Amino acid sequence: MVTSAAATKEQAGLGALDRLLAATHAEMDKVNALILSRAESHVEMVPQLARYLIEAGGKRLRPMLTVAAALVFDKPTGAQINYAAAVEFMHNATLLHDDVVDESDMRRGRPAARMIWGNQASVLVGDYLLGQAFLMMVETGKLDALGVLAKAATVIAEGEVFQLSKAGDLAATPDDYNQVIRAKTATLFQAAAEVGAMAGGADDAGRTALRDYGLELGLAFQLVDDVLDYRGESGAMGKNTGDDLREGKMTLPVILALADANPAEREIIAAALGKADASDTSLTQIVAIMNRHNALGRTVEQAQAHVQRARAALAPLHDTEMKTILSDIAEFYVSRAY
Ligand code: IPE
Ligand code: IPE
Ligand code: MG
Ligand code: MG
Repeated sequence: MVTSAAATKEQAGLGALDRLLAATHAEMDKVNALILSRAESHVEMVPQLARYLIEAGGKRLRPMLTVAAALVFDKPTGAQINYAAAVEFMHNATLLHDDVVDESDMRRGRPAARMIWGNQASVLVGDYLLGQAFLMMVETGKLDALGVLAKAATVIAEGEVFQLSKAGDLAATPDDYNQVIRAKTATLFQAAAEVGAMAGGADDAGRTALRDYGLELGLAFQLVDDVLDYRGESGAMGKNTGDDLREGKMTLPVILALADANPAEREIIAAALGKADASDTSLTQIVAIMNRHNALGRTVEQAQAHVQRARAALAPLHDTEMKTILSDIAEFYVSRAY
């Protein structure tokens, strides 16, 4: 049997996901119970909408990261359960808001909540979840971890606003893009891993290792998400492909393609960028232009570089099974792009 390097890497990544799920299963049961109980409210529309999103699943990557980061160390305090639920609530709040801002129709394999309850309810329930997230952090009584997550909340919002200000801007640079993804996505992965380490009783070096690991993992994750928006399958992703192009989002594939495009290619991209009614044919044409200039391939390469940095960040930690799982799981994040 012939196995390509990519297939072998993918298998290593998938094996790591199974091991991560098994190693965090008991704690994640508690996290999921807490998530459901904190989605309650006497105002019926709140749990209706929140549960609709929560029960659709999602990969729960960020709360698993928090739990795993705590279990890497020998003195987990239990606070990781609250932090993990808070992190997932922050994530779900940003998804509700993000789908309004991006005018996305699908999320987690279902019509986005805004397609059922409307934009207004989605924004407001997002606010509710954010409030609940902060309550759960406060309940642990740890001001330093609250500080990490509160800072992350501000940086994420800033990143989304910066991205909005660059929408449709043909002069956007790779540096602009890196700033956006660092803020809107990697910051939450970073905070998720850091507060997990804090709950695990990590010393400063351990905390820094997990923090750096989370940041690099988050960068790799968003780079891959941005590749899949052009090259993925809607069914597998649970959200529509082509959204980024139609929203005028200046992601790395489009920035790299524009930089190398000839005038005719540039014209084709510019004509579709930010047009909600851009056809599937023009999307296919643009993916072909991207492939001609290896823009998607180069974006995946950048993701792989971040995966290597994520793995390297774990070096100072003692060798444990959980450290190996975290190191291997980084590969899984990028394997989605093959
Ligand atoms: C979606 O994140 C938002 C991005 C940062 C790309 P996920 O792909 O982790 O979403 P769920 O939670 O699994 O649905
Ligand atoms: C990630 O950006 C959203 C947040 C971090 C809030 P995207 O807009 O690419 O996420 P998806 O593709 O809608 O999940
Ligand atoms: Mg979006
Ligand atoms: Mg996306």
